Amino acid sequence: MIIMGINYNSDKRIFHIQGKDVSYVIKANEYNDLIHLYYGKKIRHINDEAINTTKARTWSVIPTGSKDKYGIDSALLEYPTFGHTDFRNPALHIEQESGSTVVELKYHGYEIFKGKKGLEGLPATYGNEEEAETLEITLRDEVIDIYVVLSYTVLTGTNIITRSSKIINKGKETLKILSAQSCCVDFKESDYEMLQLSGAWARERNMMKRKLVQGVQSIGSVRGTSSHVHNPFLALLSPDSTENQGEVYGFNFVYSGNFIGEVSVCEHNRTRVLMGIHPMNFSWELREQDSFQTPEVVMAYSHEGLNGMSQEYHGVYKENLVRGTWKHKERPILINSWEATYFDFTRESIEGLARKASEAGIELCVLDDGWFGKRNDDKTSLGDWYVNKTKLDGSVETLAKNVEAMDMSFGLWFEPEMISPDSDLYREHSDWCIHVPNRSRIETRNQLVLDFARQEVCDYIIDVVSKVLSSAPISYVKWDMNRYLTDVMSMSLPAHRQMETSHRYCLGLYYVMEELVTRHKDVLFEGCSGGGGRFDPGILYYMPQIWASDDTDAIERLKIQYATSIVYPINTMGSHVSSVPNHIVERSTPLETRGNVAMSGNLGYELDITNYNEEEMNELKEQINFYKANRQLIQFGDFFRINNPFTDNRASWVFVSKDQTEAVLFNIAILGMPNPHDQQMKFVGLNPEFDYEIEGVEGIFGGDELMNLGLTLPVLKDYQSVRYKLRKI
Ligand code: GLA
Repeated sequence: MIIMGINYNSDKRIFHIQGKDVSYVIKANEYNDLIHLYYGKKIRHINDEAINTTKARTWSVIPTGSKDKYGIDSALLEYPTFGHTDFRNPALHIEQESGSTVVELKYHGYEIFKGKKGLEGLPATYGNEEEAETLEITLRDEVIDIYVVLSYTVLTGTNIITRSSKIINKGKETLKILSAQSCCVDFKESDYEMLQLSGAWARERNMMKRKLVQGVQSIGSVRGTSSHVHNPFLALLSPDSTENQGEVYGFNFVYSGNFIGEVSVCEHNRTRVLMGIHPMNFSWELREQDSFQTPEVVMAYSHEGLNGMSQEYHGVYKENLVRGTWKHKERPILINSWEATYFDFTRESIEGLARKASEAGIELCVLDDGWFGKRNDDKTSLGDWYVNKTKLDGSVETLAKNVEAMDMSFGLWFEPEMISPDSDLYREHSDWCIHVPNRSRIETRNQLVLDFARQEVCDYIIDVVSKVLSSAPISYVKWDMNRYLTDVMSMSLPAHRQMETSHRYCLGLYYVMEELVTRHKDVLFEGCSGGGGRFDPGILYYMPQIWASDDTDAIERLKIQYATSIVYPINTMGSHVSSVPNHIVERSTPLETRGNVAMSGNLGYELDITNYNEEEMNELKEQINFYKANRQLIQFGDFFRINNPFTDNRASWVFVSKDQTEAVLFNIAILGMPNPHDQQMKFVGLNPEFDYEIEGVEGIFGGDELMNLGLTLPVLKDYQSVRYKLRKI
């Protein structure tokens, strides 16, 4: 019998959260400390006496009033604080009026209920009474009278547990939160590798692994966005784990600003994972009766390796994070003007591009940067969200309608969070940007960041963007954000609260996004930040897809898309075919391979196809027809990684329909090999009992045969690729 949900054993004061194959167990002990007992493969019950992690060690500091040998400096704790005998980094750090930062949280009570509460002003996964069950444990510090509510939700039928915490000040003092992490998980041992998805602009989210050692290993961002540099994700992997086996624990932060993901190993080999808002340059004033809600961490457990963990994230993000009209709707194939024309276009040239695209079967034409104000390069006009009528020879409405007449829909690029010093908006409101008075305003890409910590700035942007969206049949928006935050200071806050600015910026951003996606609910929004600089679940709550990277080279994209899929569903990734040589790496790859890589995501084109000859157009049409015929499977089926481009000389992956009757496999060679070995492709995710036919290959193959013996691939030269379509017979 599968037991799922949350059980409380009142004799032992043990909380047992059970998912599909996972258990998470917590205990309120005799000292009212909230102790972590276990997180891992599902168990029926637990002998808590046997897992005694609260033994004092030589040199442990013993809390006053506890019996001999009780110490918490290497205990497994659920929400540790600083200054009271645990010396590891804490989950909560609060400065009080006295100047003290000592806080002692004790168990106070609990509540278990069906469903899941939303987090006010913040993105989060959701679930109704059938889909979710929640445990809230309340802790209290009796000296300053603060309450901390720890939330744990298990999503039905999954191995996902979400975490967040809320700090409530019921005392008389005005407190200052210096750090409030969203979750802490202490593991008994340290025999893990830490996986992170890190990189830089144009090479976002590369897979990097390291073995844990004593001390702190961390990833994070203080750039005001989750950033190209570290994705807000980390995982602990058991030493034997691979794509398809081994225990994996994933932690993903549902937030788009400064964050930290920290793994520390103490002197007794305990491992502590903390994830939350980065404490650097953060503080939050908490007056009497105020509360502070942390963003959410989504924890995924798998005992079937990284593919198993990805299945968990993909399932929950598709069903319980992404919202709105496009949640279950196939995403259109688009052509984007950026790499086709950059700033150099007219209404006529965009219509020419759209005409050719429509001939090939492309469904959406997106006009990227350059359509507003006086924008003919990146030096001007951000903030002036009105149409450049001279450049477009009329209104955006005329263009949108002309595109619609070609049987395509129309989309526009915006960068709503920015302001160019050379703009009417700046001339009118030069204090609306984030800046430090009496210091120079640091520009990058000739732009400054609007202060979204200010209500009037947010409301102005909602209004102007909304006006454009209502002025014409616009069915898609690319929401860009092209710089990090510097000189962080808001004119709306007093001196002692300036360190709230970055978080308030994020809250403002979420307010603006919520308002716009609600007002324009049928518009498909695609997030972007210089490519994938803000590819995080926070954005996915508002926008169902994100431009994965400015790097459109098919070979570079193998790594970016492979690693992005570790956490994020395929239908959240914008991926385009662009021209060769590639504009960033100057590599030339076959159109077939560019198509195969781009269609392993939400397919788009971003190149000038107006001069394509008949042969090239036919190839385009073939790709588009194939994608349309298999779009449901690719965007909504199950996805399994097979060959890893970080370690192999190729990448491969397979999409399998939910009923396992259809599959599409892609295999892309990186470099060819002289006098090559046979390359065998062992499929993953098929039904071993089913027999399949493969388009273009003679014979019938058992699912078991394809997964165990595999299929011998043709010899592939540099950058060549193959694609197989399988059907159950
Ligand atoms: C960013 C985006 C690109 C493009 C340009 C336009 O770099 O990532 O896709 O939209 O801005 O300026």
